[in-house]
Amino acid sequence: MTTLTEKHKKLERNITLLAVAAFAVVAIGGLVEVAPLFWIDNTIEKVEGMRPYTPLELAGRNIYIREGCYNCHSQMIRPFRDEVERYGHYSLAAESMYDHPFQWGSKRTGPDLARVGKRYSDAWHVQHLTDPRSVVPESIMPPYAFLADRDLKPGDMSAHLKALKDVGVPYTDKDLAQANADLVAQADPEADTKDLLSRYPKAQARDFDGNPSRLTEMDALVAYLQMLGTLVDLDSAAPQEVER
Ligand code: HEC
Repeated sequence: MTTLTEKHKKLERNITLLAVAAFAVVAIGGLVEVAPLFWIDNTIEKVEGMRPYTPLELAGRNIYIREGCYNCHSQMIRPFRDEVERYGHYSLAAESMYDHPFQWGSKRTGPDLARVGKRYSDAWHVQHLTDPRSVVPESIMPPYAFLADRDLKPGDMSAHLKALKDVGVPYTDKDLAQANADLVAQADPEADTKDLLSRYPKAQARDFDGNPSRLTEMDALVAYLQMLGTLVDLDSAAPQEVER
């Protein structure tokens, strides 16, 4: 009769048998993690209020990416006490579900911006972006004054929305058709924005850069910043223990 030790010796000395056995053991672990994904539709917990970006916010987001703001700013508040006390409720997966690419970031030379929306006035943002040290004397952020001097040239926003729709962002056909008109209307204080607001709830429509006669890159960037973290109804998310 072979004892267990002898059986094990056999397994250890036969490289093929050992490889097959090791593979089987690792595969069980893999299956346990991967298999459920075939039966659930979504790994992102549903929360109220999340919607796709308006064309103007999207144009601002493109400027944010173009200027490399993500090199110094993250957009993900981790569930740690110090972060939650400084920046607000930790970020939820649903809050970046329409981000292509996401802007979580890996470096914080400046503060996290995930919930910067509505924290400052538009005028503060314009002043800060124009000359950061005029409002925060110790700031090392570079100035972006030129944004107020550049007309917003978004190109064909409907093509942009279409590309996002193709990867799963739920823009409607009307959103696509109206994209460029929506973009202009959101920053025009004279425009009728009822329709825009019905398709993009909680969108903020006004002149953002302090110059209503002109649609600039500053308008788009400030519209984007003022929206960050303002969409989701945080009470609708399941509570999570914050690490202390
Ligand atoms: C070289 C790093 C760097 C880059 C690049 C940078 N920032 Fe900053 N940013 C900072 C630092 C540092 C602060 C904190 C001091 C201050 O408020 O100016 C800051 C602060 C901010 C704040 C205020 C946040 C708060 O909660 O007080 C905003 C908004 C902001 N940056 C937006 C931007 C945007 C938009 C861009 C791109 C156009 C950008 N930053 C690029 C470093 C940077």
